[in-house]
Order: sequence, then C-alpha cells, then structure tokens
Amino acid sequence: MLPPCGGNGERLDRRTVLKAAVGLGLGATLCRVDVLAAEDDKTARPRKGDRFVFAYGERGGQVIALEDLPLGGPQQLAFPMDPVTKVIRDGSLLNQVALIRLDPAQLSADTRTEAAGGVVAYSAVCTHEGCPISMWHKDSKTLFCACHASRFDPADRARVVDGPAPRRLPMLPLGPIDRGIVAAGGFTGRVGRQTT
Ligand code: FES
Repeated sequence: MLPPCGGNGERLDRRTVLKAAVGLGLGATLCRVDVLAAEDDKTARPRKGDRFVFAYGERGGQVIALEDLPLGGPQQLAFPMDPVTKVIRDGSLLNQVALIRLDPAQLSADTRTEAAGGVVAYSAVCTHEGCPISMWHKDSKTLFCACHASRFDPADRARVVDGPAPRRLPMLPLGPIDRGIVAAGGFTGRVGRQTT
C-alpha cells in the first residue's frame, strides 16, 4: 500500500502536496496523495493547454495530430490530456470530445473564433439524453446521435438541425494550430443532458 503524504491521510490539493514534496526533497516520492491527485486530473473537465488523445481503438491514448483528422469529417472521438502530467481525462465520460476538421471558409464567424486551422472541438455528449455523439451524417456533414436521431451542425457551433436535442453542443475553444491541437479554455456551456 502506498504511504500517505500527510500523517492523517487527509486529501490535500495537488499544489500543496507538490510544494511540500519539493521542500522536503521528496520530488520522486510516490505517495497516496499523488495517486489521488492523478485521479482528480482524470475527472477534471478539459482546460487551457490540454492536448487530445484518441479515445478508443488501437491508437487509444495516442496524441491526435492535425493530419489524423480527415478534412470534411467525420469526427474523431477524443479525451483531453493534461500536457504536464500526461494524465488522460477519461475518468468521466462527460469529457468526451468530438474533433472535426472542416474548411475554415465554411465555418460561421463565431465558430471560426474558437477553431484552429479549421478544426473544431465539441462536447461529444448529446444534450438530449446524454448518449455519445459517435456517428456522422455524411450527406449533411452533421454530427449524429444514434439514440434519437438528433443532428448538430459543426460548422455553426453545433446548432441543432434535427431531432429532440434541446440545445447545441458546448464548444471547446482551441488555441493556435502551430502548437498542435490544444485547448484554449474549458467548455463554453454545461455538458450533457438537459436537466431541470
Ligand atoms: S440522446 Fe441524443 S437524441 Fe436522444
């Protein structure tokens, strides 16, 4: 069993633990709080600086590059990854992200401000009943939820174009593409199903 970092087993925040570890020359010591901090990172919502990794499949966990996204869709399901600790935030399905690469000229003006090199990122959790947005409607170039057939337009901030979804998918702003595909902030709205 891993040793606790404090004497009383309290759950300390990560910054406090790292400070204490550095002060005591324990930078390389693995303790229980380190593990808890990593668990927190896994469930934390995406934030500025996060990279993206393939969510599933044989490349699951590998960083996604621009070249991995076919121009014009479909989307690639991804999880954010802390750029420093490399912890993948797959501890919550609410962190699933759909990355799509489109022609920048086809994006609406307010979509383009949050895009990078034509790449847009949205929550991949349907705002109706929370199903994953894992399918692509080729003819209309829209994100498709197979549960009840909602469709969302990725070129227009994931506006609902069909089906029972009550609101668009929250967007995840991206930073300059010359650094790779990097989050510039958190989701623009509440993620997941509509609740009262
Ligand atoms: S859960 Fe997506 S349309 Fe119902």
